Amino acid sequence: MPSSLSGKRILLGISAGIAAYKSAQLARLLTQAGAEVRVVMTEGAQAFITPLTLQALTGEPVRTSLLDPEAEAGMGHIELARWADLVLVAPATADLMARLATGQADDLLTTLCLASRADKVMAPAMNQAMWRHPATQRNASQLTADGWRLLGPASGDQACGDIGPGRMLEPEAILEALAAPTQTAEVHPADGLHVVITAGPTREPLDPVRYLSNHSSGKMGYALAAAAAALGARVTLISGPVALATPEGVERLDVETAREMHDAAQRLAGECDLFIGCAAVADYRAETPAEHKIKKREGEEGLTLTLVKNPDIIAEVAARADRPFVVGFAAETRDLEAYARDKLTRKGLDMIVANDVSAAGLGFGADDNAALLLWRDGEGEGGESLPPQSKATLARAVIERALACRRARAAH
Ligand code: PMT
Repeated sequence: MPSSLSGKRILLGISAGIAAYKSAQLARLLTQAGAEVRVVMTEGAQAFITPLTLQALTGEPVRTSLLDPEAEAGMGHIELARWADLVLVAPATADLMARLATGQADDLLTTLCLASRADKVMAPAMNQAMWRHPATQRNASQLTADGWRLLGPASGDQACGDIGPGRMLEPEAILEALAAPTQTAEVHPADGLHVVITAGPTREPLDPVRYLSNHSSGKMGYALAAAAAALGARVTLISGPVALATPEGVERLDVETAREMHDAAQRLAGECDLFIGCAAVADYRAETPAEHKIKKREGEEGLTLTLVKNPDIIAEVAARADRPFVVGFAAETRDLEAYARDKLTRKGLDMIVANDVSAAGLGFGADDNAALLLWRDGEGEGGESLPPQSKATLARAVIERALACRRARAAH
């Protein structure tokens, strides 16, 4: 039981979402943890759960109206705002977020939020398209800038039948996050996001025993997956053949060829928030891999293979109407910035991580890397040079920059 909640005065605001049914369990867990809980419900919330349920669980009358003379005679709304150590809104609907982001005070809950100087936390809950909408993303950024701490939303099956981000965090997860407030806020900026990362090489068969491939070890892509998971994201790693353990908390899909990687990426591209192409994908494959092992032919000095182009995985993800924020890599041996800028534009990417793979001790197979980040967000173009460092620290910097650019893009 988190002792930090013991004796804490928590104003629990409930707005009109189907997730309101979870608020009863949340109120119960908070009181069990020793918090004093008073509940305020919007008018719409009462269509999903009754004030009586919350009253029974908290042992306190539930407030529902700003213009209630009887309730105001007991504890006026300004007194109630002053009483709280913490304002927790769960669920916070898209509408409530919009009203709070613009400073409206047109009902009791929004008025209390505006009047209270307490710490403020919300657990957004809505349909995935509503959550992804630029207006909601703008409001989320504004609320964060105003000092609100957003917990979630989580990704998964939704009550409306959709799949994606927008589910309210489970009451247990909210309780856990409240028990370690500042830490969670700083360490989990990717909470509720689904990140898909390609990593490693692809193998393009020539015959049953030979293939075309490259020197990618997967280390950079796996470091990105570990960093994204540590920052709170749900991570799916589409991995070519490598000899690495799957980072904790990461879901891994193994593929061999570029076309298999392409199919997996296309399946996931429409339902993720951030797509990172770190794999060294073979640009070409054998037009017709031989059915049996190719034999050395006596008297012939050469062997001609006919290659055909593989699909450009990341360019296809970036061209989708429902595209996530897309980050590519550029492995170059000369003219790093010029080639990377060209790929950023040609492939329609939001950000590119350019690495010089001819530098000793960096790039393919190494434990360290250096990179030039180039991006286009809502405010224009930007760039940052990351000096040589471990792939783990570089990965964290890349993910943090991608999240910041994605937020800036959504805010415009
Ligand atoms: O795996 P490591 O040993 O740790 O090495 C890391 C790395 C050097 C492989 C990595 O840092 C890196 O640079 N990965 C990208 C390698 C690459 O193929 O770059 P590219 O410039 O050829 O491709 C540009 C971008 O298009 C990349 O995001 C690539 O994933 C993508 N691409 C390329 C071809 C293709 N058919 N489909 C793609 O999606």
